Amino acid sequence: MTPVRIGLLGLGTVGGGTLELLARNGDEIARRAGRPLQVTHAAVRNPDRPRGAHAAHVERLTDPFELVHHPDIDIVAELIGGLEPARELVLAAIGAGKHVVTANKALIAHHGNEIFDAARRAGVAVGFEAAVAGGIPIIKTLREGLAGNRIDGLAGIINGTANYILTQMRDAGLDFATALADAQRLGYAEADPSFDIDGVDAAHKLAILASIAFGMPLCFDQVQVHGIRNLSAVDVDYAGQLGYRLKLLGIARRSPAGVQLRVHPTLLPQRHLLAQVDGVINAVLVDSDALGQSLYYGAGAGAGPTASAVVADLVDIARALTIDPEHRVPYLAFHHDHLQALPVLPDDAVESAFYLRLTALDQPGVLADVTRILGDLGISIEAILQKEPAPGASHVAVILLTHTVRERALRDAIARIEALPSIDGSVVSLHLDHLEH
Ligand code: NDP
Ligand code: HSE
Repeated sequence: MTPVRIGLLGLGTVGGGTLELLARNGDEIARRAGRPLQVTHAAVRNPDRPRGAHAAHVERLTDPFELVHHPDIDIVAELIGGLEPARELVLAAIGAGKHVVTANKALIAHHGNEIFDAARRAGVAVGFEAAVAGGIPIIKTLREGLAGNRIDGLAGIINGTANYILTQMRDAGLDFATALADAQRLGYAEADPSFDIDGVDAAHKLAILASIAFGMPLCFDQVQVHGIRNLSAVDVDYAGQLGYRLKLLGIARRSPAGVQLRVHPTLLPQRHLLAQVDGVINAVLVDSDALGQSLYYGAGAGAGPTASAVVADLVDIARALTIDPEHRVPYLAFHHDHLQALPVLPDDAVESAFYLRLTALDQPGVLADVTRILGDLGISIEAILQKEPAPGASHVAVILLTHTVRERALRDAIARIEALPSIDGSVVSLHLDHLEH
């Protein structure tokens, strides 16, 4: 059988892993795809870097544009990362009639609408399973496995680096910087790790998941994003004392009023399955009408897991090469003409429960002032924890958990509480969610 010829843009963590996986499981992959998948060319930045035995039979190029225009390549896998030149390369590959696979969530989140439009016009496939949750086949699940369902929402731990850092801080007592350095050494973190710790990488992935779940064009710019950079160890600890764990969650929910798209640290009840997801593992909880809640769990980063998703896309494309383009699985699950630009709700309109930590003067009447402000704004309290003052200290930490409240009311309450003379500094607020259907 004639092999399907693949050109890899990049031979780093994911490109190297893809090459290795195609070599290791080549026979079984060919039996599944109906044809062998052969990497014929690879483009890298530094041609002198050793690439291992599997790269010996691959023609190495230093000009990635030569690869995307090469007449002997059927599928281009973009595994470079970043926005440019990745966008230009992908569009050039599409323009040259090549099918494309990418692991680049930033590229899809920012330029997916443009890329899918170009690909549709050229009649080529674009696979991006590896862009969300590493090896977990969540895109295939939403796009195909749940095709009979109305998807009402999803919540996911979709950044392995942030989850690894939070887990190491909680369980191993590591400080933030050491845990981040470990994640970088293990190949989990993005080239710019601020994307991981500031929630941007999770927001890229959430934008992609929401489009596929709800059938709307990509709208990364409208995702509300808060990362874990400023999370304090005491809040991880107090959350634990109250029976919760802190996780960086991406949440997409729809209601008749519009769609919520948010990434932020969130307190989850310790017994919730997502609260048990530790280390670099990712998990996505999906609410859909026929199936109910379903949970998808697995490795969210690293060479092998990400290559697993890249190769799955390569196999899908190899199988679909003879199918009329109009009858392939649509890029964003819904047919192009049936995507709907749903309104995305602003922060103020979002409803959530909250964790609040304030530093209060240890004297009578202070808590009464705080609870009066909350009561006046219709905010009901679920739990209060007041810590012993440190010896000689005039202030104490007070932790409050609220019932569900409109975010605008909570921001008003925080402003009023911070204005009380008995309150020192800013009030820390974190979302709390039970993720019930
Ligand atoms: P790496 O930095 O490990 O590898 C990037 C590769 O691209 C290197 O081989 C590099 O060449 C090559 N490269 C960079 N710029 C150019 C250029 N202009 N021309 C030719 N080659 C170039 O990145 P990763 O493998 O970690 O990530 C690749 C993509 O996969 C990114 O989009 C990332 O977000 C995504 N991803 C990564 C995951 C992970 O666990 N690492 C998980 C899921 C997605 P050289 O080797 O010569 O420097
Ligand atoms: N930096 C990403 C993460 C890699 O930590 O999840 C996988 O997309």
